[in-house]
Amino acid sequence: MKLSFVKNYSQRIITYLIISGLVTLLVEGFIIFSLRGMENYFRRTGYRSAMFGPDGMRPEYRMMILIMFGIITFILCFYIWMRDTISYLNLIIRKVKDISEGDFDHPIEVRGNDEFASMAQNLNQMQKNIKDIMERERLAEHTKNDLVSSVAHDIRTPLTSILGYLGWVREKKDMDDATRDKYIEIVYDKAKRLEQLTNELFGFVKLEHNELKLQITRLDLIQLMEQMLDEMTPSFVKYGIEVEFHHPGNSVWIEADGELMARLFGNLLNNAIKYGKEGKQILIKMEPGTDWVVTKVVNYGHVIPKEELDSIFLKFYRTEQSRSRNTGGTGLGLAIVWQIAQLHNGTIRVKSDLQGTVFEVDLPLYQSGKKGRNLR
Ligand SMILES: Nc1ncnc2c1ncn2[C@@H]1O[C@H](COP(=O)(O)OP(=O)(O)OP(=O)(O)O)[C@@H](O)[C@H]1O
Ligand SMILES: [Mg+2]
Repeated sequence: MKLSFVKNYSQRIITYLIISGLVTLLVEGFIIFSLRGMENYFRRTGYRSAMFGPDGMRPEYRMMILIMFGIITFILCFYIWMRDTISYLNLIIRKVKDISEGDFDHPIEVRGNDEFASMAQNLNQMQKNIKDIMERERLAEHTKNDLVSSVAHDIRTPLTSILGYLGWVREKKDMDDATRDKYIEIVYDKAKRLEQLTNELFGFVKLEHNELKLQITRLDLIQLMEQMLDEMTPSFVKYGIEVEFHHPGNSVWIEADGELMARLFGNLLNNAIKYGKEGKQILIKMEPGTDWVVTKVVNYGHVIPKEELDSIFLKFYRTEQSRSRNTGGTGLGLAIVWQIAQLHNGTIRVKSDLQGTVFEVDLPLYQSGKKGRNLR
């Protein structure tokens, strides 16, 4: 039994106590009334005993009966009112024990809307949070394992060919100059890739641990993007990719660390090339508003599965298809992009479907009045 209109538990206890007291009084009244009837009957019949004298029931017995019935009635009544609450409390205690033993899959049933219900709700929320944290840890552990094998693979592959080519150059003394130059060129490219990989790893660790001192300057985002596109032209030509850059025309000023911004968009453009080769087209749209500029990098080709969209910004995460197609890479690119956007008080979003994969970066515009914004 529960008085659902009284939501506060202590008020409810007081109400139950009052109700139990009233019921006890009623019962006591009934007992007094019945005893009087009994006394009259025994007086008329002349019955005498240890309990009943000529003036009716002896006072000590009367008191004893009243106290006994009073206590029993009160306890019984209070217990009936409290039964549901006690059993619910027991249920919560059992569930807390289950949670402490690692069961995060069975939420506690929320009954009513009092403090116990809100305790159950909070416990359910806690259970969910712990489960999410564990899931994230599991994913991080999984991606870390992936990293070890991926980095080992990324280092071993170029290293094997470097050693192979250098071995040939060393052993084949009669090798003609053209072949030797070609091999040296290959070795150089592979060594460059190794250098890039280690730089990426070191850069990421620095970003992760806030060891980086930002060199903030006022820079024109359009100019930066044009420079980047110029630098990447050989790759666009190599894969026959057509690039379109839409922007408002005049400068778009932001306050940022130029090198990091170049890294952010460099990573996005590299991904657009790597995963959008088949789409043969990359679109960049820069749309400044009053306080923010939105830059969209769009490519066609690989669609990132919906269930993987949330994970691609995690460090060392590479989608199932990238892993299976062996596109190469450590899965650090987007984690770096995300960190750099955060460092500049910006955000990054992604959507991917048959209409294309779109990475959208929001960055705060330079405000001439406001100096020294809060950049980490
Ligand atoms: N433009 C894109 N189009 C389709 N898929 C993408 C795109 N950019 C990223 N992805 C997917 O997201 C995953 C994570 O990208 P991220 O740049 O972090 O790592 P990576 O490219 O695999 O390696 P790295 O950039 O460190 O060399 C990629 O493996 C790829 O599957
Ligand atoms: Mg990448």
